[in-house]
Amino acid sequence: MPALVVPPGVEGVVALVDLPDAAWESRWTRIVTTEGLKDRLLNFTLFSLRHRGRLDAVRLPIHGLVVLAGPPGTGKTTLAGGLADTAARELGAGGLLFVEVDAHAFPSQLLGESQRSVARLFERTLPDLAARGRPTIVLLDEVESLAVSRSGASLETNPVDVHRATDALLEGIDEVARRCPNVTFVATTNHPAGVDAAFLSRADLVEEMGLPGVSSVKRILADTIAEVIGSEPADEPALGALAEACVASQLDARRVRKLILRAIASSRELALSPERLRIEDVAAALRDEADGAHR
Ligand SMILES: Nc1ncnc2c1ncn2[C@@H]1O[C@H](COP(=O)(O)OP(=O)(O)OP(=O)(O)O)[C@@H](O)[C@H]1O
Ligand SMILES: [Mg+2]
Repeated sequence: MPALVVPPGVEGVVALVDLPDAAWESRWTRIVTTEGLKDRLLNFTLFSLRHRGRLDAVRLPIHGLVVLAGPPGTGKTTLAGGLADTAARELGAGGLLFVEVDAHAFPSQLLGESQRSVARLFERTLPDLAARGRPTIVLLDEVESLAVSRSGASLETNPVDVHRATDALLEGIDEVARRCPNVTFVATTNHPAGVDAAFLSRADLVEEMGLPGVSSVKRILADTIAEVIGSEPADEPALGALAEACVASQLDARRVRKLILRAIASSRELALSPERLRIEDVAAALRDEADGAHR
């Protein structure tokens, strides 16, 4: 069944999706992480969705908040969706409701506007969605623009307004944690230093997603090439050498996958018959990209 995407016309909420959805499975299976990270995410999320309601918040101060932190292109947003989809499969029965909040969709921090919209989101919109009674995962994507660090706020924005918006978010998270035991938050950020300390302190689990190492890059290259040519590339040593070169160039996982597009874009033959792609073509694309960057 296709995902139910309802643009609710509510400020800040980008999408409501019914999970599981077969089309979302690759968001979990195709994202390569360090050992144990996916297990911790899934275990915590299932615990939070199933048991948070009966726990005493002083004895175990659980907010139902997971933070994924790391540089751009390391899979944070994709994995957050994959986590929700996988949790939905594990829960069975009616699955769960996935609510995507885009922090950038809020009005500016000037004039207290963002404080009011953040308060509305947590006091009304999210509790209303939670009141439907289903397990609910709320994605707070790029949360640094919502939970601006009050100690590091720039002088251009009015510090009072920044304080108020961040305070509204903290109060909101506390309120939803109290009132809506069926809600679990997943927040992403590529700038943890810019995220307010009190917000991070509320996180039950913080996971770092870094740039991929050689073995991860190998898997990502093989997976991307297989998508184009229909089978995994056979030349192991060439794949290893290419992965090492990608790591030396400090490519993030998104750039690693995009390299295959650069290889295809470099040749009319490959554009028309991509199944002929070879590892050497991708290696050439990397050299070409590095040359361009140094020119
Ligand atoms: N760890 C990874 N393993 C495999 N593929 C990845 C990984 N990280 C990113 N990718 C690829 O890059 C795409 C974009 O990743 P995504 O948008 O989730 O990154 P992000 O960390 O949220 O980046 P940003 O901070 O820029 O928002 C993914 O859909 C996938 O194709
Ligand atoms: Mg992202």
